[in-house]
Amino acid sequence: MEKNICLEAQLAKEWVGESELAEFEPALRKAHHALHDQSGMGSEFTGWVNWPRNYDHQELDRLQETAALIKEKADVFIVIGIGGSYLGARSAIDLMQPDFFNQLSPRERGGPEIYFAGNNLSPAYLADLIRIIEDKEVFINVISKSGTTLEPAIAFRVLRKMLEDRYGQKEAGKRIIATTDRNKGALRQLAAVEGYQTFSVPDDIGGRYSVLTAVGLLPIAVSGLDPDQMMKGAFAASRIYGLCNLDSNDAYRYAVIRNILYRQGKTMEILAAYDPAFNQFIEWWKQLFGESEGKDAKGIFPAGVNFTTDLHSMGQYIQEGLRNFFMTTLWVNKSRSSIDVPILDDNADGLGILEGTTLHQINDQACLGTMLAHTEGGVPNLKIVISEITPYHYGMLVYFFELACAISGYLLGVNPFNQPGVEAYKKKVFSLLGI
Ligand code: PA5
Repeated sequence: MEKNICLEAQLAKEWVGESELAEFEPALRKAHHALHDQSGMGSEFTGWVNWPRNYDHQELDRLQETAALIKEKADVFIVIGIGGSYLGARSAIDLMQPDFFNQLSPRERGGPEIYFAGNNLSPAYLADLIRIIEDKEVFINVISKSGTTLEPAIAFRVLRKMLEDRYGQKEAGKRIIATTDRNKGALRQLAAVEGYQTFSVPDDIGGRYSVLTAVGLLPIAVSGLDPDQMMKGAFAASRIYGLCNLDSNDAYRYAVIRNILYRQGKTMEILAAYDPAFNQFIEWWKQLFGESEGKDAKGIFPAGVNFTTDLHSMGQYIQEGLRNFFMTTLWVNKSRSSIDVPILDDNADGLGILEGTTLHQINDQACLGTMLAHTEGGVPNLKIVISEITPYHYGMLVYFFELACAISGYLLGVNPFNQPGVEAYKKKVFSLLGI
């Protein structure tokens, strides 16, 4: 199996030597066994580890049929969910579908426009969304594992009423698909009463580890991306990165290096990518690591930047600010599109030397130059090189980070699968609202 994701750590050598890595070997072995033998903290939520091998193929076929129907009938598909119930799908669509996807013609898109709701409480956002879908055929996928989360529940209430007013209750029910807990929760009950088609979130997979379940795969399939390929990629990653070998397993090496740097006072990690298509993927990654590690007064704070854009806003701080962080850069070897610097007679901008060079080559040099400058500025730099971005590679990348996150959390000494802190804000808000 080809290793399509590689960690490069040469620019962190000053901080992380082979001896520091070797010191972590016993702890890594322990973490590896705790995860794979299901004997570690939070092991009841480690269903994602073997999911690429164990997932229900019939359920995926049903999901593909549902996606095909939505593609045929809908002008607009609204995905309602927050946190782990939307970030994965959104990241995949942004990463692999063209920029400006919703502005393409229906024929070019091959399916509906896709919008996300229920991930905030802004009235303006919801009102603006309702305005642009006024004359369009709408289908909704409401996603909530608990079925009680405030933001998606409110958005769903508003949009469900809109559908019921427009189509009548019965017809509206045919346009709503609920993805939720298999047995319990308000959404499961409502779906049973209204006869919505449903998909289940497995009990042993938490929200932020759920993108390769129906949570992520239904919206992903509606966008025209191939879920089968994603599962194949995740399966390959589970084989490649499932071996407890610090020399060859880059997911484990990444987890260990993060912990070595953390112990040196690098308490923040900034994930950078050189294509705005990665912005939502960075958000997904932030949730994965932030919710998994930030507890018990510990944890690396996950931040993200979009380069080269943010070099003109955050570059100054990264180069010369407080030295309490390290950087991880995502780089994709193969670009989705190719554009050359054009040949012009006047050379007015003085860039004639670049004529014929591709933008991808320039971006590559920008990435290298930036990493070198930041390393000289005292920032340890890691690079994760991905051969290309296809559904297969996306599945690999998701699994790579989920695995690295779980191992990193165990090395840190926390339960990477719970999120007790998220409840605190919910309780306060619910009590203020008298719920
Ligand atoms: O990772 C998690 O568990 C959370 O981010 C949840 O995904 C998020 O809070 C949404 O929860 P639910 O799907 O229950 O509405």
